[in-house]
Amino acid sequence: MATMESLIGLVNRIQRACTVLGDYGGDSALPTLWEALPSVVVVGGQSSGKSSVLESIVGRDFLPRGSGIVTRRPLVLQLHKTEQGLQEYAEFLHLPKKRFSDFSAVRKEIQDETDRMIGRSKQISPVPIHLSIYSPNVVNLTLIDLPGLTKVAVEGQPESIVQDIENMVRSYVEKPNCIILAITPANQDIATSDAIKIAREVDPAGERTFGVLTKLDLMDKGTNALDVLEGRSYWLQHTWVGIVNRSQADINRSMDMIAARQREREFFASNPDYGHLASKMGSEYLAKLLSKHLESVIKARIPGIASSINKSIDELEAELDFLGRPVAIDAGAQLYTILELCRAFDRVFNEHLDGGRPGGAR
Ligand code: GDP
Ligand code: NA
Ligand code: MG
Repeated sequence: MATMESLIGLVNRIQRACTVLGDYGGDSALPTLWEALPSVVVVGGQSSGKSSVLESIVGRDFLPRGSGIVTRRPLVLQLHKTEQGLQEYAEFLHLPKKRFSDFSAVRKEIQDETDRMIGRSKQISPVPIHLSIYSPNVVNLTLIDLPGLTKVAVEGQPESIVQDIENMVRSYVEKPNCIILAITPANQDIATSDAIKIAREVDPAGERTFGVLTKLDLMDKGTNALDVLEGRSYWLQHTWVGIVNRSQADINRSMDMIAARQREREFFASNPDYGHLASKMGSEYLAKLLSKHLESVIKARIPGIASSINKSIDELEAELDFLGRPVAIDAGAQLYTILELCRAFDRVFNEHLDGGRPGGAR
């Protein structure tokens, strides 16, 4: 429905505008506002396939992937759906106005920006990199890629790194607006899944957790993952989705996304164990499932989002009055943008309500 799409689009733009404002220290409504808006976070052990899964959801190759610790800073990725026919491009918050249409340059910039902050080390930083992708082929969605959970510090890492990563991950997944993609490799015992451990802790009822089982191609011969995929090993309200991403050898020979998806489809269709589940497996199915879920979450939350936006409008107006002109001109302009977006949301929301009620009373 058009209204729904424009509301989701506005939610996305408000989220981005809040992001641009960064750690603006004002005593404003923004934290409440941000927390009313849903986002999707990937969590799991190191090299469980988190970055690979995110890429597949987006349908583009642009993330650094590989064995060992590759993702070393959070990546907050906002997808913005644009009109059909428009050119696809990406933009970083730290490089405003520079449009990337070459996605391998996006990957390089993520690596470079990580190195600029923490060098070519095995260290991590909680300071996120913000990236937006504008494309007619995406759904409006905020996705967050995180460093993987580990068990021990390796050479070149401080002892505290295990706990630091866990704290960082927890700070994202404990927010009730966060939809958790719990990434678990199939060639490992589910009882040892770091993703499930942390998801269970913050979402015991499994209401906002999606189980994603990667590396199905790497299971020992003679075994299968049906107990997990059919919900017998660890039950979640949402179904488990099995995935076959590209292997390191595929990455080394630059296998592209289209070929990877094709092979994944064939894997499920031709595998005697998974044939009956084939239509509910794979990256494309996961992407659809997520966007459907997100839409229903936003639909259900719209009254709540609308009321926190309404409250924000009042508080933003008060705050702008208080700021007056000089002190923080940039923050002022940004707050004003957010205010305008909130007003637009409020307008669309109320028109929608009026349209749905006889006499248009509200
Ligand atoms: P992350 O550390 O969790 O972000 O994981 P990456 O996406 O960087 O992947 C880590 C390594 O595992 C890479 O070498 C990938 O090629 C490999 N990998 C990820 N998923 C799969 C999979 O489903 N099958 C196979 N064979 N390899 C995978
Ligand atoms: Na990795
Ligand atoms: Mg990664």
